[in-house]
Amino acid sequence: MNAPTHERLLIIDFGSQVTQLIARRLRELNIYCEIFPFQKVTVTFLQEYRPKAIIFSGGPASVYEDDAPKPPPEVFDLKVPILGICYGQQIMMHMLGGIVERGRGTAEFGRAYVKSSEERLTLLDGWFDETREQVWMSHGDHVSAIAPGFRVYGTSEHAPFAITAEISRQFYGVQFHPEVHHTRNGLKLFKNFVRIAGFCGDWTMRAYRQKAISAIRDQVGNKKVLCGISGGVDSSVAAVLIHEAIGEQLTCVFVDHGLLRKGEADEVVAMFKENYKIPLIYVQEKELFLNALKGLSDPEIKRKAIGGLFIDVFQKIADGIDGVEFLAQGTLYPDIIESVSFSGGPSATIKSHHNVGGLPEKMNLKLIEPLRELFKDEVRALGNELGLPKSFVGRHPFPGPGLAIRCPGEITRKKLEILREADAVYIDQIRKHGLYDKIWQAFAALLPMKTVGVMGDGRTYDYACLLRAVTSVDGMTADYYPFSHEFLSETATRITNEVKGINRVTYDLTSKPPGTIELE
Ligand code: XMP
Repeated sequence: MNAPTHERLLIIDFGSQVTQLIARRLRELNIYCEIFPFQKVTVTFLQEYRPKAIIFSGGPASVYEDDAPKPPPEVFDLKVPILGICYGQQIMMHMLGGIVERGRGTAEFGRAYVKSSEERLTLLDGWFDETREQVWMSHGDHVSAIAPGFRVYGTSEHAPFAITAEISRQFYGVQFHPEVHHTRNGLKLFKNFVRIAGFCGDWTMRAYRQKAISAIRDQVGNKKVLCGISGGVDSSVAAVLIHEAIGEQLTCVFVDHGLLRKGEADEVVAMFKENYKIPLIYVQEKELFLNALKGLSDPEIKRKAIGGLFIDVFQKIADGIDGVEFLAQGTLYPDIIESVSFSGGPSATIKSHHNVGGLPEKMNLKLIEPLRELFKDEVRALGNELGLPKSFVGRHPFPGPGLAIRCPGEITRKKLEILREADAVYIDQIRKHGLYDKIWQAFAALLPMKTVGVMGDGRTYDYACLLRAVTSVDGMTADYYPFSHEFLSETATRITNEVKGINRVTYDLTSKPPGTIELE
């Protein structure tokens, strides 16, 4: 293991869906941290890694399961502060002599309120300005007796030991999740924790850039890299970063799979050529993709088919360039967490994001994904750090499988044509009203149903379209954008008047969760 160049905090992952949010919150505080699955954290690992503090993540297991995930007991002898979150608190209590009980009737999911004990805890500086604090809980089991030396500093209705600490050893345990936005003062808790641990906060996007560049150089050596770009900010940032690391050894490929938005192919090629001196190969593969998608309507099958074809196309191009051994992609952390567990742990698959779950098992190219630990807003910060044009960095995300996942059910060329027109009118409206930069992502989708309408004096039987616009910080959670009624009715009128094939317009009011941003 290399000698650390930054003070570092170790996050031990026990399989929570939101472990990466812990890292995110810490990075907001300029703390360098890394997540390792609990299986990798051995005694030797701990001795070599020398963390300045440790956080135990949450996780879906129960401490009483036969193979319940555990850290090595020696972790408690390192003399560094430890914060256990949810399952992390339970396993800490269990290993140090406390008792954890199964949740029968006391499970808590979602918003809860914690009350402070008489005695105040430095970890909670800035908390309890009101009598109670809003936190976000997600637990079945709970601690029912604390380990020797611990004291209670906060309780909730169903978690009598919601906040516990053993001050002399600086061990802290919380039953709720301070890493999610719904825990109102979660960031303050992390801030206090790293202050207690003595961090000075020396981690910045500039530091990330340098670390990523040297990691790319080490991984690639003198081989060549092919980078798939989509015109979105992720793949462009990945390409520019890799170019900075290895220069001429990089070639970019842009595939028109027939699932792009109106005018997008020309825009992307022009934008890339104007802004960068990186060789770009533009391939037209509409027929290949659209023929392969014929008859497919299941969302996962569609996603995997597209992912598979992308790889075939990349492989064919790579075979034509001497020395290409790597395929680079702008995969982000949320793409991974919803496709496979980042840590190899037991978190559930929500969707196979095309650049992750769609990869065929046997691929001759090795993957480079320099953004796989970042969230969208961090990629934008990295884009700014790398000097990408502002208009480019601010583009709304566009998914790799493109319009295929905005056209639920079977895709046809006709449906795609209608959808492209509706989307173009919608985005035009958003721009005209000066709303583009206030919205995290907006798009039209074509619903797989026809309804009856009346236009002029005639009956219509056409498609219904759905408009989606969300606000979000990182794509992990999202809320619908509160357009004015005037905006919505003006847009609906424009779409039904200007787009042949649509006679009904709906606006999607679903947040994420329970919905996802895309329809499939
Ligand atoms: P969901 O629909 O999962 O989307 O809430 C979260 C964000 O990810 C984008 N997305 C993708 N991006 N490949 C990508 O590059 C994909 O397969 C993919 N699926 C969803 C989506 O547009 C949103 O910004």
